[in-house]
Amino acid sequence: MADKMRDMPRHIAFIMDGNGRWATKRALPRTSGHAQGGKTFRAIADACLDRDIEVITFFAFSTENWKRPKAEISALITLLNRYLLDWFSEERAKNTRIHFLGDTTPFSKDLRELISRAEKTGEDISHHLNIALNYGGRADITQAANAILKKRIAAGDATPITEEEIDLHLATANMPDVDLLIRTGGESRISNFLLWQSAYAELYFTETLWPDFSEEELDRAILWYRTRDRRFGGLTSN
Ligand code: IPE
Ligand code: IPE
Ligand code: MG
Repeated sequence: MADKMRDMPRHIAFIMDGNGRWATKRALPRTSGHAQGGKTFRAIADACLDRDIEVITFFAFSTENWKRPKAEISALITLLNRYLLDWFSEERAKNTRIHFLGDTTPFSKDLRELISRAEKTGEDISHHLNIALNYGGRADITQAANAILKKRIAAGDATPITEEEIDLHLATANMPDVDLLIRTGGESRISNFLLWQSAYAELYFTETLWPDFSEEELDRAILWYRTRDRRFGGLTSN
């Protein structure tokens, strides 16, 4: 354990896993697990903003989650829709900017309009709430490469692409890298989440199923993070 506590994380990312198992354990349909998980999402997003975390990113739907039954997908979308409608009357929306990471084109026009309205809400922005929807880390890096390629071709420019340029074309452009990545649900994998942005993230895996994840456990994870020695390949982080 480091003798000195490091600063609070600037960016916390969450892989909200375990909703289905939470429901199955209670003999409930998987969609009830998502409804409960939605409540946890609201509570944990609020808790992070209360703790002044600058950027929070939640994995809501992956590019691979289309493999799920249609009814489950639409239940997830309904929950998201409801969250966005509530967002406009939230006090927090004044200083928190919502961003959607991922390709939203497969979704309905109504949802896309709601998303773009939500992304414009707020004036005095000090916090960022990212919702990764139809997001995949590989798709993100690929779209960044293609965006750069397009500019290169238009300018007749054949200079090599730099890491800084890729960074600036990712869905998280201008945001700090992930400091702390929390995955609930007992699996120790990234599942194609923020691959580039988590290169040096501290990974916190917990058996807790997402609907059971609490503010207390968030604080435990943050405390654990603050005792890590982040060396970034060097000998010491200080
Ligand atoms: C939520 O947990 C993740 C989402 C895709 C929203 P899961 O639905 O993957 O729950 P488990 O892993 O089946 O328990
Ligand atoms: C990761 O959970 C995706 C989200 C939380 C949205 P999954 O349940 O889809 O991941 P795998 O399939 O277990 O890797
Ligand atoms: Mg899962």
